[in-house]
Amino acid sequence: MKAIILSGGKGTRLRPLTYTGAKQLVPVANKPILWYGLEAIVAAGISEIGIIISPETGAEVKAKTGDGSQFGAQITYIQQDQPAGLAHAVKIAQPFLQDAPFVMYLGDNLVQGSLSPLVDQFKSNTLDALTLLCEVENPTAFGVAEVDETGRILRLVEKPKVPPSNLALVGVYLFSNAIHEAIAQIQPSPRGELEITDAIQKLIDLERKVEAYKLQGWWLDTGKKDDLLEANRIILDTCLQSRNEGDVDASSQIIGRVEVGQGSKIINSTIRGPVTIGDNCHIENCFVGPYSSISHEVKLIDADIEHSVILKQAQVINIHHRIVDSVIGQRAFLKEAPRRPKALRFMIGDDCQIELSS
Ligand code: DAU
Repeated sequence: MKAIILSGGKGTRLRPLTYTGAKQLVPVANKPILWYGLEAIVAAGISEIGIIISPETGAEVKAKTGDGSQFGAQITYIQQDQPAGLAHAVKIAQPFLQDAPFVMYLGDNLVQGSLSPLVDQFKSNTLDALTLLCEVENPTAFGVAEVDETGRILRLVEKPKVPPSNLALVGVYLFSNAIHEAIAQIQPSPRGELEITDAIQKLIDLERKVEAYKLQGWWLDTGKKDDLLEANRIILDTCLQSRNEGDVDASSQIIGRVEVGQGSKIINSTIRGPVTIGDNCHIENCFVGPYSSISHEVKLIDADIEHSVILKQAQVINIHHRIVDSVIGQRAFLKEAPRRPKALRFMIGDDCQIELSS
């Protein structure tokens, strides 16, 4: 069995963070979202993995993820020139996939638990497609499935106005080589994409065996800020282990599960876990509260931060208000005047959101 991970697309929903980078590389608990899927695939015993990349962000994905050896996998990068749809991505991956059955994993999704039960069900029931489904409150935002009591999928629709159920397609699918024939028979959708949902519906119409696997744990589609914060909270809650490779001075306090990376200095600060701090950070006179992920080379001085994600090389200096529920992008710089400021001075990029709440 092989796998493909979709890491192309435009990523417009996480703007402005993804003006400059791939949304699949945005870190959750200091690890790129993409790597969680990669690790789950390798843990299910699959090592031949193709990653679909876009011309805009492909180089960054490649540079960061490498040839796969650090994950125990062999990675082949496949460039998709246009984000022409999930089924289009499968089409261009066919020379890599050949006739092998494969897992398709959307690179911006985080799914709890192992892929092994899905692989087992796919193999033992000799299926042509298996989709992972999850009950959601807002099915109109996703592909939605109608399923019979035995778990067979009867019908699928992409982002329906009137959803046939509350079962959304989570971004994990397993296919036999029959999917290629189905993709050859579909047309682009009204949004101009070759939809994988339509290709699976075509398999159903061709009376191929298509089943569902209902996810028991959580699933996070990290496309938006609040989803990203929630993913960060859950991963820190469930996966973080204490580790200190930095330098914590005697007047600092570390409480609970906290990870401090190499070369990071914690001076006169309190860190209350779960918190992860990357490499080469400088944290001085700060409180860093639960569910915060501080990426590499971040500088925090005289700041108070909680339930937030701070990306690489950002600086937060002298802010005398607690920063909560925030995502601060790479190299961003926030500074307040030492006394109550008479004026606020900003340089804010397109699509940023600033809330000065009382
Ligand atoms: O997140 C689950 C949903 O993902 C499913 O419920 C939908 O049925 C499925 O169509 C998909 O919908 P989205 O509209 O959210 O897909 P998005 O455009 O965000 O793309 C998902 C991933 O695939 C993302 O990592 C980008 C990548 N991608 C996307 C397209 C359209 C590609 O690599 N190539 C593409 O052409």
